[in-house]
Amino acid sequence: MLGKLITFEGGDGVGKSTQIQLLAQYCKAKGIEYIITREPGGGKISEEIRKILLNKDDDACINDCEALLIAAARVQHVHDIILPSLQANKMVLCDRYVHSTFAYQGYGRGIDLAFLKAINMPAMEKVMPAVTFLLSMHPRDAFARKNKAFVFDRIEQAGSAFHERVYNGYLKLAEDDDKIITIDATLPISSIHASIVARLKI
Ligand code: TYD
Repeated sequence: MLGKLITFEGGDGVGKSTQIQLLAQYCKAKGIEYIITREPGGGKISEEIRKILLNKDDDACINDCEALLIAAARVQHVHDIILPSLQANKMVLCDRYVHSTFAYQGYGRGIDLAFLKAINMPAMEKVMPAVTFLLSMHPRDAFARKNKAFVFDRIEQAGSAFHERVYNGYLKLAEDDDKIITIDATLPISSIHASIVARLKI
């Protein structure tokens, strides 16, 4: 396989999409073929699952159901979008992947990490990121940046203690994995972009 999967992680509102767009512009200017995709979602079936997951009226969705739906959306996304793009030698810029599950469903919701790894195996054994950028910012600061009119989705409205566990969970994941590059998301947009490009050596 020739292409590379690059994933972007971090709490809600840390600026992942801005960085993905900037990296995409950079790739375009350099003539590097790429696609942008996201999780949960990215393909037709996976986007349908995303709607269920983020619907703020579905407050009866239990934690294990949430984790299994995310894993299902992921394996379909890998099949429909990620693998075919990598095989076509494209760089895949993906907004969230398995590390979101470990941070949100594992550290955030308290689901056993071994169980999460097991249900994500069908996706993980097909593809893991070449590099993961963790844009790190305390959730208090990230939520303070949101526009007042912003409507929170079901997971975003889970509460500050939940988001704090997610934040600390991400830091723990990064400590144990040298493929996760932690970047201070409070830095100016242009310096974050410069660090990402420097790390990718493209
Ligand atoms: P996202 O689209 O990144 O939201 P935003 O752009 O507002 O940051 O992600 C949607 C939500 O799904 C986000 O709150 C995190 C959550 N999520 C999980 O809980 N587990 C996962 O494995 C993934 C991929 C996302």
